[in-house]
Amino acid sequence: MAVKPLIGHSFTNGDGAVAFELPDLPYAKDALAPHMSAQTLEFHHGRHHRAYVKKTNEMVTAQQGLEGATLIEVIEAAKARGATNLFNNSAQLWNHSFFWQCLSPAQGQEPSGKLAQLIDDSFSSTDAMLKKLVEEAESHFSNGWTWLILNRGKLEISSLHDADTPLAHDGMAPLFTLDVWEHAYYIDYRNERPKFANAVLSNLVNWEFVAENLDGRGGRRADQDGDQLAESLRETADS
Ligand code: FE2
Repeated sequence: MAVKPLIGHSFTNGDGAVAFELPDLPYAKDALAPHMSAQTLEFHHGRHHRAYVKKTNEMVTAQQGLEGATLIEVIEAAKARGATNLFNNSAQLWNHSFFWQCLSPAQGQEPSGKLAQLIDDSFSSTDAMLKKLVEEAESHFSNGWTWLILNRGKLEISSLHDADTPLAHDGMAPLFTLDVWEHAYYIDYRNERPKFANAVLSNLVNWEFVAENLDGRGGRRADQDGDQLAESLRETADS
């Protein structure tokens, strides 16, 4: 299966430090309306996600040995070093880059092929899985993310708090995520998180992207890197 090109790159600034970019949305800002408004995307992508990029770039320069590192390497290093602020901001940068790709304009899309089979095997039907995802999102306390993951060949639903990310956990290959931070839904749904979760899950899931991630390389699809990894992914896609 072809692997998409990376959605951005890291580059070195004048000091030789890593600098990451805010990836463009893969659709127009008004393309997800009425389920997710242009105004929500202006704030969520244009302000919140941008702030995580800015803070990551500010903090990563204070770390030794991360010149030329991929975003995922920065996240892993931050966790290993106990650099909590850098972990939170770099993980949020990656989580949001992944989240935008999990969505696509409402066109009656449904899972198909191997993904549909796995969903039926694990949850009995797509509707049953979506219901569980909505319940997971609803019951999640405070800020965080609801995940559909692949764990040793099986589909599982899970939640992670605040900025935590599957990249920091063994056995959690990310397939799909729903942002359940209040900033994701307050403009369109006020405090009604279940309404937001139901609208997004019923209408906006990019099932093609979810299916691609069955190869276990979902992490890389929201990574940012210099030339070396980008080149290796292009070679994989071409082969
Ligand atoms: Fe968010």
